[in-house]
Amino acid sequence: MVPTIDQNAVVGSSFDLFNLPETYYDNPYPFFKELRDNDPLHWNSDGSVLLTRYADVKAVWRDLSGVVNREATYGAKFGEGPLLEHHTSSMLFRDPPDHDRLRDIINPFFTQSAIGDLRNSVEQIVQNLLDEVDGKKEIDFVKDFSSLIPIKLICDLFGVPREEGPKIRDFGASVLLPLNPAVSAEVVQAGHEGTKGFMEFLRPYVREWQSRPAEEKPSNIISGMVAAQKGGQEISDDEIIHMCIVVLNGGHETTTNLLGLSTLALMEHRDQFERLAEDPQIVGSAIEECLRYATPLQLQGRRTTREITIPCGVVPPDTEIIIAQAAANRDDRVFDEPNRFDIGRRPNPHLAFGAGIHVCLGRPLARLEAAITLPMLVRRFPNLQLVGKPEFNRNARFRGIKSMVVSLD
Ligand code: HEM
Repeated sequence: MVPTIDQNAVVGSSFDLFNLPETYYDNPYPFFKELRDNDPLHWNSDGSVLLTRYADVKAVWRDLSGVVNREATYGAKFGEGPLLEHHTSSMLFRDPPDHDRLRDIINPFFTQSAIGDLRNSVEQIVQNLLDEVDGKKEIDFVKDFSSLIPIKLICDLFGVPREEGPKIRDFGASVLLPLNPAVSAEVVQAGHEGTKGFMEFLRPYVREWQSRPAEEKPSNIISGMVAAQKGGQEISDDEIIHMCIVVLNGGHETTTNLLGLSTLALMEHRDQFERLAEDPQIVGSAIEECLRYATPLQLQGRRTTREITIPCGVVPPDTEIIIAQAAANRDDRVFDEPNRFDIGRRPNPHLAFGAGIHVCLGRPLARLEAAITLPMLVRRFPNLQLVGKPEFNRNARFRGIKSMVVSLD
């Protein structure tokens, strides 16, 4: 018998990623459990396959690491225009050899050591924001705090004034939203306009760095990519711009959502909140558990070019696969008591950053931001409390909190 989750829930074989019930957005995990246990190779209404078990998600990421090109799928969904151009030109949706050519150029700016140089900036940003909210009784955690951290760092990475943060964040959001499973024509149109606006905004920065003599050590990723271009590495102006857009989109929403969802989990598990405040040694495993438990990027896409056999079955050629890493990260075939939030959990082989050649470029930065922010927050505001209910966004791919009121003392 198929277990019932919720009276209104659509489960098992009738689950439709393209027509999600409202309850899914507040808590997708009961749906994922049902799919993992009873329908691990689930056919969506549009002919794509949804995979939810850890072993299958990992197998696809490893096997089909190089098959991300979305020209056919996105061509039909977006039509011609800047949005399609971006989502077929950025590194994220390109296969080797172009993926590898572009990743080799950007990689040096995201190594552990390059990102380590940002530690002081991150501490300063978090410190200032905490000072700003201190003294207030209640704040909206997302609007007043968490969403302001990653965007400042990304502006620094681009060498763009931090005041431009809100503008580029809005451009980025409009480029991202159309990637969701079911989207309206208005969202797609806004995506075309946002991509065009973002490209026009970034182009003068590229030109400016091209007109200047090369720096001894690049001070930002735009000047770094321009230096690579001048040094004879193959990267076009548009590819530099698409790289910046993908860095913003990879790094802003995801990290904001990580901070919000993790703080919610800490407030809901007071013992873990206090453990983090009291034991500085635990921060490493705490961040990995936050990543597993929150999984801010929940779904990913691949397309088969041949028939593939994975642990749960066979997927035919030319099939769109949606992998649900959020479901994999709660798979009890791999994680003991997967719904338990335990900041000391070891081992913790979560898949929040993906796997294979597209594994998250910015993971050292995401980890650094969380490892600095969360301990500083719980120590500064030991009585941090949720007020009312958080409002989750309605985004199946980039899961996060839209608004969350918290009291500080
Ligand atoms: C909690 C925060 C983050 C999460 C959960 C996350 C997750 C992911 C995942 C799952 C992928 C793989 C996509 C795929 O296989 O199709 C990815 C790729 C990527 N991420 Fe992140 N990310 C985060 C933060 C960041 C940051 C801070 C940056 C940069 C500032 C960034 C930049 C990128 C880029 C550029 C890629 C594409 C890599 C490629 O195609 O080779 N991410 N990310």
